[in-house]
Amino acid sequence: MTRENDEARFAGKVVLITGAVGGLGRKIASDFAEEGASLLMSDRDGGALEALAGELQSMGAAVAISVGDVTREATAEAMVATALATFGRLDIAVNNAGIASSFTRLADTGPEEAERILAVNVLGVIHAMRHELRVMSEAFSHTGQHSAIVNMASVAGLVGAPNLAVYAASKHAVIGLTRSSALEYARRGIRINAVCPSFVRTPMLAAITAGQAHPDTEGLAQGVPMRRLAEPDEISIAVRFAADPRNSFMTGQALGIDGGLTAM
Ligand SMILES: NC(=O)c1ccc[n+]([C@@H]2O[C@H](COP(=O)([O-])OP(=O)(O)OC[C@H]3O[C@@H](n4cnc5c(N)ncnc54)[C@H](O)[C@@H]3O)[C@@H](O)[C@H]2O)c1
Repeated sequence: MTRENDEARFAGKVVLITGAVGGLGRKIASDFAEEGASLLMSDRDGGALEALAGELQSMGAAVAISVGDVTREATAEAMVATALATFGRLDIAVNNAGIASSFTRLADTGPEEAERILAVNVLGVIHAMRHELRVMSEAFSHTGQHSAIVNMASVAGLVGAPNLAVYAASKHAVIGLTRSSALEYARRGIRINAVCPSFVRTPMLAAITAGQAHPDTEGLAQGVPMRRLAEPDEISIAVRFAADPRNSFMTGQALGIDGGLTAM
């Protein structure tokens, strides 16, 4: 399953993707497969995961799956172990699973919702990174293998996001994890970067606007200089740029993919 006239830049690479059946995850997974990668896809939605795996396998991709909730440490351990057991290595990890909050002021965000957002978006990334970093740094020590981690943050990790304060706090934390761990592993063969999209046309947007009286996803683009939502392929291309082994000097960066929003 490789693109015609493409050099299959991820051939021989094993890519782990969390939140793989969501709007962004499935695009990222299928684009990596098209460029030759083998995939370990993880999500809490087992049925959708099996269906997507079947789809990609029928197109010639090598795919394994691991079902679980990222807030549980055992999920991270199992997905990394499955990648190693199936493919014998892990080259790239895209920590993409995440949830949005409903669109409300901070004082109106309930404690349970706040705890859930921090558990999925922050603890989920911490659990995943701990296991990914362990196997990636062992591979570097034993074989000199270089690896890359791409964390899915958000423009809400770079600037304030009114009515999405807890979500913004969680994505600022993801960028803090990215920058700090990039420094820790800069001489240990692992590059770690974050991708920071503005609103993307995925099922998550429906969740963000669900609490509003007049749900209007297109209205969310009014603050974006390009005056539009991003499409999943515009985020996927940045993820693969960050993961590309030839992009070998870039680490600790938080890339705004936002139609100019953070240039203001
Ligand atoms: N869509 C946007 O506008 C947007 C903008 C900026 C950043 N992001 C980030 O991109 C990432 C993907 O978002 P999306 O738009 O594809 O959302 P989505 O809702 O379409 O997909 C999210 C995926 O994560 C999975 N997931 C959620 N909670 C989980 C858990 N506890 N354990 C395991 N899997 C879980 C879901 O099952 C789903 O498949 C998220 O981290 C999100 O914060 C999205």
